[in-house]
Amino acid sequence: MSQLPLLFSPFELRALRLRNRVVISPMCQYSAHDGYPTDWHFAHLAKFAMGGAGLVFTEAAAVLRAGRITHGDLGIWTDTHARALQPSVAFMKSQGAAVGVQLAHAGRKASIQRPWHGNGPLDETDAVRGEYPWPVTGASPEPAGEGWLLPAEMAVSDITKVVEAFASAARRANEIGVDVVEIHGAHGYLIQSFLSPLSNRRTDAYGGDIKARMCMALEVSEAVRAAWPREKPLFFRISSVDGFEGGWDIADSVMLARELKSLGVDVVDCSSGGNAAKGATASNALRGRGFQVPFAEQIRKDADIMTQAVGMILDGAQAEEILQAGRADLIAIGREALYDPFWAVHQARDMGVDAGFEMWPEQYGWWLKRRAAGRHQLEKAERAAE
Ligand SMILES: Cc1cc2nc3c(=O)[nH]c(=O)nc-3n(C[C@H](O)[C@H](O)[C@H](O)COP(=O)(O)O)c2cc1C
Repeated sequence: MSQLPLLFSPFELRALRLRNRVVISPMCQYSAHDGYPTDWHFAHLAKFAMGGAGLVFTEAAAVLRAGRITHGDLGIWTDTHARALQPSVAFMKSQGAAVGVQLAHAGRKASIQRPWHGNGPLDETDAVRGEYPWPVTGASPEPAGEGWLLPAEMAVSDITKVVEAFASAARRANEIGVDVVEIHGAHGYLIQSFLSPLSNRRTDAYGGDIKARMCMALEVSEAVRAAWPREKPLFFRISSVDGFEGGWDIADSVMLARELKSLGVDVVDCSSGGNAAKGATASNALRGRGFQVPFAEQIRKDADIMTQAVGMILDGAQAEEILQAGRADLIAIGREALYDPFWAVHQARDMGVDAGFEMWPEQYGWWLKRRAAGRHQLEKAERAAE
C-alpha cells in the first residue's frame, strides 16, 4: 500500500504526537492491592505498548479510596500510588506508546465484587477473603440495583472534595510522565450518575434540568484542565445514551460535548449504557459491530469535537472505514486487545503496512523478518513437493 492507512498515520493532539490512531481502551483488571498496581499490571500494559498501539490507557484509577468499584481496583489517591505506576508508564513510553490514565470515582456502583466473584454487592463469601463492603455515596440516595448498597446523598462539600480529588489525581499523573488523562464520565459511575435523570433526583444546584445535572461533570473537567498541563490532551468518556426510556440521550451528549470543548477537553470517548446494576440496557441488547460508532459520529459532527469510537471494532479494515468516513478520530480497542495484545501490528501486516516488521520491537522484528523469509521458502518447497 503506497499511502499509509489513516489508522497507522500519526495523530497530533496538543503537543502530543501519537504514532498511530489505535488506542487501548481502559480495562479494569481487579488485581490491585489497596489501589497499588501489581506485576500483573506491568505485564498487562507492557504487552499493548510492545504490540504497537499509539496510546495505551490504564484501567480506571480511583481518585479516592471509597471511589473504587472493587477491592481490586487501581488507585491514584496518593502520591505513592502514582509512583507505583511509574515503572509501567516509563516502560510503555520506552516502546513508543503514549500513555493515558483514566481517572474515576465509582459513586453508587462502588463496593462490589470482582466480576469473577459475582459482580454484585459484597457479601459473606467475600468476607471470607477479608473483603468487606464500605459506605458508598452518590448523587441521590438510590441504589444502583436491587440489593445494592444505599448510597448516601453527597453534600455539596463532598462534591467539592471529589472535584479536588480528580484534580490532584491529574497532577500526580503528570508527575509520573503520563501523556493523557481521561475523566471517566460513563457507565453509571459517579459523574454519569449526576448527569442522568435516571439516577440524579437532586433538587439543589446539581440536580434538575440538564444544565444543573452537568454541573458536577463540568466542575471536574475545569479542575482537571487547570491541574493538567496545557500542552497535554484531556479526554472525557461518556455514556452517549443511557439506553432507557426517559434517560440521558444523544442530544444531551452533544450538549455536554460542546460544554466540555469550551473547557478544554480535546476528545470525547463515546461509550454508552451502564447506569444500572446488572441487566441489559437497550444498547447492550443491540451490540453489533461498531454499535457505538454512530454516537462518535454525531457528537463529532454536531459538537465539532474530536471523538474516540469504541465497542466491537474488530479489525483494521473496519477501523479504517470509520476513520476514512470521518466518523471518529481515534479507534479504541478493548476485548480484541485482550485476545491479541499485538492487535495493532497484526492489523498493520494484514493491511499491507509494515512488510519489514519495523513496527515491532527490534528484539522481535529482526527475528520475525527471518521467520517470514524461512516460512516463505518452506511453503514454496512444500508446494513443489506436492
Ligand atoms: C476487562 C474489561 C475491563 C473494563 N474496564 C473499563 C474501565 O476501567 N473503564 C472504562 O471506561 N471501561 C472499561 N471497560 C470497557 C472497555 O473500555 C470498552 O469500552 C468495552 O470493552 C467495549 O470495547 P470492545 O468491544 O473493544 O471490548 C472494560 C472492559 C473490559 C472487557
